[in-house]
Amino acid sequence: MSDHPLNAQPERDTAPWTPGSWSSTPGARATQFQYPDNGALETARTRLKQLPPLVTSWEIEKLREQIAQAQRGERFILQGGDCAEMLELCRSDLITNKLKILLQMSLVLIHGLRMPVTRVGRFAGQYAKPRSSPTETKEIDGQSCTLPSYFGDLVNRIDFNEIARTPDPMLMVEGYMHAAMTLNFIRSLLDGGFADLHHPEYWDLSFFHNASVSDQRRAQYLNMSRTLADGIAFMQNLGEQRVEEATRVDFYTSHEGLNLYYEEAQTRTVPRREGYYDLSTHLPWIGERNRQLDGPHIEFFRGVRNPVGVKVGPTMDPGELIELIDALNPHNTPGKLVLITRMGAGKIADNLPRLLEKVKDEERHVLWMSDPMHGNGITTSAGIKTRSFDDILSELEQAVDCHKQAGTILGGVHFELTGEDVTECIGGGSGITEDDLGKNYVSLCDPRLNYQQSLELGFLLAQKMGSE
Ligand code: PEP
Ligand code: CO
Repeated sequence: MSDHPLNAQPERDTAPWTPGSWSSTPGARATQFQYPDNGALETARTRLKQLPPLVTSWEIEKLREQIAQAQRGERFILQGGDCAEMLELCRSDLITNKLKILLQMSLVLIHGLRMPVTRVGRFAGQYAKPRSSPTETKEIDGQSCTLPSYFGDLVNRIDFNEIARTPDPMLMVEGYMHAAMTLNFIRSLLDGGFADLHHPEYWDLSFFHNASVSDQRRAQYLNMSRTLADGIAFMQNLGEQRVEEATRVDFYTSHEGLNLYYEEAQTRTVPRREGYYDLSTHLPWIGERNRQLDGPHIEFFRGVRNPVGVKVGPTMDPGELIELIDALNPHNTPGKLVLITRMGAGKIADNLPRLLEKVKDEERHVLWMSDPMHGNGITTSAGIKTRSFDDILSELEQAVDCHKQAGTILGGVHFELTGEDVTECIGGGSGITEDDLGKNYVSLCDPRLNYQQSLELGFLLAQKMGSE
């Protein structure tokens, strides 16, 4: 076993950290987008620093405690939402439906796993997107034109022209405002409670009866929904208060902390607590493309009190993973680090077990989560980006098996989903085929599970984990 981090603290922990120290890392200058106007950047940063925080330190501390519980197998974390939120889609119906599907999935999981579930939305700030290339080239009027890629509404706009694609720092202020409006609405909805959550008979379970659902699965779903309804009815008999408690819930927000100017501006100390909090969200994460050990994102997030997620893809080496863990959590504190694995259904069995073994052998405290979405992108013959429900389910089930085999704990899942009836992913009981993709494909980024696919996945996960 190597030196325990408590005895041998990595060098980085002793290097001075400030909310702005990320900007002097070697990778900071090579970030994929740059603001051309420094004066405008300073104006936006100053404004963001003055604006009140979006979340509070005590919510962040509470989530840390819940993540620590999930690491011990006493709780499960359900994280989900859009690949990219868009400012113009900050609408009450879309927010309500996204919240509802997450709450419904969480009830299915509470029931199936027999443990509390923490809901974390990819909401209220999921406006910045990493890209595989910093520029995009298109043919315009017979001429080839190269512009910055679209990095999400927090950075630039999607239209393919120079003005829209130039990174605009005031979009950070716009993004903050939309995050605040979204959060404000979510907080009031949760305060009021969702009456129809108490009644699975009001949920849209019509997919049970679709021709694409096998008889065996249909019987399982009907059985599970019946026992779920009985469970809720039982709680109701104990008193409305209990159901209210189960459905009037804490809700946490998360987003990829890609734009460090935005994160830094909302990072501050608070009275009577030690350390700095990134108050733009409860659970920021570092994407697969931005987790270089000497990069700006690791430098920034090692210094905040928030729990931090890191995406872990199939190329991750076990030794590098330990270095990454020690850089972000040098004191090996439970509740701080969430490793979100996204391997792909065809790669998980070859790549996840050695990571699980290594982290277990080295006794690092992490929460393992499975993101079965980002390793499973496919492009149809017509050039449409999609994902197959079967691949997503397969990665999820293999993740459960790998953890079981390694004696480690799968403490959460991470999905891209929406509460709408979109046609972006194929398969599942919804029966969406490649030919259907054009019917209601809304995402500008990655394809999301629709309402029925999400709920069905919730049932299948509850079934798989509940039976283990
Ligand atoms: C995402 O979560 O939308 C994303 C880009 O993921 P990853 O960094 O795992 O590719
Ligand atoms: Co995505």
